This record gives sequence, structure tokens and C-alpha cells, in this order.
Amino acid sequence: MRTKITIVGAGNVGATAAHIAAAGNLADIVLLDIVEGLAEGKALDIAQAAPLQSFNCRIAGTTNWATTAESSIVVITSGLPRKPGMSRDDLLAKNVQIVKSVSEKIIQYCPQSIVIVVCNPLDAMTYTTAKVTGFAKSRVIGMAGALDAARFSYFLATEIGVSPEDVNCVLMGGHGDDMVPLPRFTSVSGTPLTELLSKAKIAQIVERTRKGGTEVVNLLGQSAYYAPAAGVAKMAEAVLKDNKITIPCCAYCNNEYNAGGYFIGVPVVLGKNGVEKIVELDLNKSEKALFEKSLGHVKELAAKVDKLL
Ligand code: LAC
Repeated sequence: MRTKITIVGAGNVGATAAHIAAAGNLADIVLLDIVEGLAEGKALDIAQAAPLQSFNCRIAGTTNWATTAESSIVVITSGLPRKPGMSRDDLLAKNVQIVKSVSEKIIQYCPQSIVIVVCNPLDAMTYTTAKVTGFAKSRVIGMAGALDAARFSYFLATEIGVSPEDVNCVLMGGHGDDMVPLPRFTSVSGTPLTELLSKAKIAQIVERTRKGGTEVVNLLGQSAYYAPAAGVAKMAEAVLKDNKITIPCCAYCNNEYNAGGYFIGVPVVLGKNGVEKIVELDLNKSEKALFEKSLGHVKELAAKVDKLL
């Protein structure tokens, strides 16, 4: 049988992720949306790029969950995106119900899948998915760190004047303004970042990274999607090809980082089983304090989810 990825939600993030995944020939793609014609139209449009971009995976657009059956990966992008002036947390009450109903469909149609959650507030929606599906926690992963780390790498590369690929950066915590970029664990072609830029410059870039999503929302009047979609495709590829890359993801941590059973951004090894390992960095006191603060926020949102489910 051909390998299949389902992307739920044919909005900007979902459709762009479908296009990137198709262009990379990752697997056959099912794009699903509740709006009649939307996923069908976008899938057809993407499919028509195949001769130009030399891909041969199949792309189907549908409103029918039966088409998604036995997908190896399901990506949840459905849910409201934020508008200027909104925080990601403002989306919780609406998106928890959407993610709940999608998760119930996933149990029914794709019970063996690995689920990548993208909608916001990300850590809380990943928690919701895990709770509703009851899937092994290693099979429920949130996409946020890939995006936040990419933003951090991009800003650093631009400042230093190197290729973004050469920046190896680490970032932890929830997907919000209290995320924890870790300059001490970040390097550029082997040279520690702290030797390349001043403390003040690093602090400025850390702050810009934390507000990276908001910067785009304010420019566009809507949420970012190219880089988020690229984050999804990178994670899906790692799972499908069993790449075992180390990448920050929202993953279930119990003893790790003393998180006590919450989904939060940490560096993980991603492979065919989903989260195969959580990489435990030796954080210093101030880094631990920042992570604790972010974890506190993640816990608050999880408690809100518990009340709504
Ligand atoms: C962002 C949204 C997608 O960070 O959370 O751009």
C-alpha cells in the first residue's frame, strides 16, 4: 500500500503544507476540510503543479473522512487562526472543540497514525489531542519548536551573515511569548553563538523570536503559514523516512525536565515511531527558571482544557 498523509484543514497552513509535502514527494496526500469544495479545489491546484515541479505523489481533496483511512500521519491544522490583537490563548475555547471532534475521527479512521498538531494554543491543543485519542504519547506531537527554532536561526543567520542552515539552534518551552530560546546551546558551524554576538544583540534576537508569530500577524493581518507549513513538512519527513533528526517539538514529558506529565517544547529525536527520545540538556539555573515559567503557563492552559472536555 502507498504511504499516505492526511492534512486536516485546507486553510493557509494545511494547503501550504500539502504543497511542500507534495513537492518533496513525501507520500500521497489527503487534504480534508469541512467546507465543500475547498480541499478539493486546493488539492487539484496543487496536483496540477506536478508536471512543473516533478512530483508524482497523489493528492486528494475531500470532505469525507473515509478517504483518510489508514494514513500514517495525520496533521491537524483545523481551528481558528489568530488575528491582530489576539493572543494564541484567546483561541482555546473554540479550538478545543474542533480538535476534539477531529481527534474522534482520527481514532475511527487512522488509529495507527502519528498525529502532528499545529493549531493554537499549540501546547494545549497537543494535550487535547493526546487526551481525546488516548494514543501512545510518543505518537502525538506538536509543531511549534521547528517553527520557532527556524525563526531564531533565520534571525541569527541574517545578523551574522551566514547560511541559515549553518545555525544549529535550540529552543524549548511552550509556543508563546514565554518560549525559551537557548543561546548557550546554539552554535554556528561549531562556534558557540555566545562567541559570535554580544549579549545585547542575542537578547534582542531572542525577543524578536519570541514575538516572531505576532510580527507576521501584524504585517499580514492574519497568522503565518509558509514557515509553519515547512515545519510540518520537516517533521512529517522525519517520521516517514525514519530520519531520527533532533528537532524541538511539543512532546510529552514526565520525568524529563521535571515536567510532571505535560506536553511542552523540548528537543526530541523524531523517527518512524514519532518521538523516539527526549534530549535532556543540562540547563543552568536561569534557563531552568525560564522553562519553569513557561511550563506554568502550559499547565494553566491544560487545566482550562480539562474543564472544557
Ligand atoms: C505562529 C503561529 C502559527 O507562530 O503560532 O506564527
